[in-house]
Amino acid sequence: MKMKTYELKLNELHTLAEGILKEFKNGVVILQGELACGKTTLVKEIVKQLGVSDDVTSPTFSLQQCYSDKIFHYDIYNHGLDHFISLGMLEELDKEGLHFVEWGNEELENILSSAEIDTLTIEIEKISDNMRKYKVRHAHA
Ligand SMILES: Nc1ncnc2c1ncn2[C@@H]1O[C@H](COP(=O)(O)OP(=O)(O)OP(=O)(O)O)[C@@H](O)[C@H]1O
Ligand SMILES: [Mg+2]
Repeated sequence: MKMKTYELKLNELHTLAEGILKEFKNGVVILQGELACGKTTLVKEIVKQLGVSDDVTSPTFSLQQCYSDKIFHYDIYNHGLDHFISLGMLEELDKEGLHFVEWGNEELENILSSAEIDTLTIEIEKISDNMRKYKVRHAHA
């Protein structure tokens, strides 16, 4: 298990997105951190680098948003993990492609690990109005 830490401003975020895409092409990216820390913003940056121009927003009311047949976005804040699982979403996470899950927790990490689904966990913390700290952990690395 390796962990890397970055402190980045908004205009530096592309460097993290590039690094993530270089080593993580398939699997689940769990995004953790308090309200408005920048989870959706990071998804937006990665999706942009994948050459998809869709508008990326937190899928607050829908369970899943697809930006291509291989890029998916989920937010489990409103309904919780149990609801997400009971609707069969684990099967979705196993599909080929990149899956971004805002508010994924340790319980989800453990479930994905048991299912041998490759997982990257990113913990975001607000350092100041224009700076965030990103702790990136890759379970199988
Ligand atoms: N690295 C960064 N440096 C400075 N500001 C940032 C950074 N990343 C995101 N922000 C800003 O933080 C604000 C909130 O971002 P965002 O909507 O991505 O948060 P979120 O974690 O998805 O929120 P929610 O919990 O509501 O889903 C935005 O104004 C965004 O521009
Ligand atoms: Mg969000």
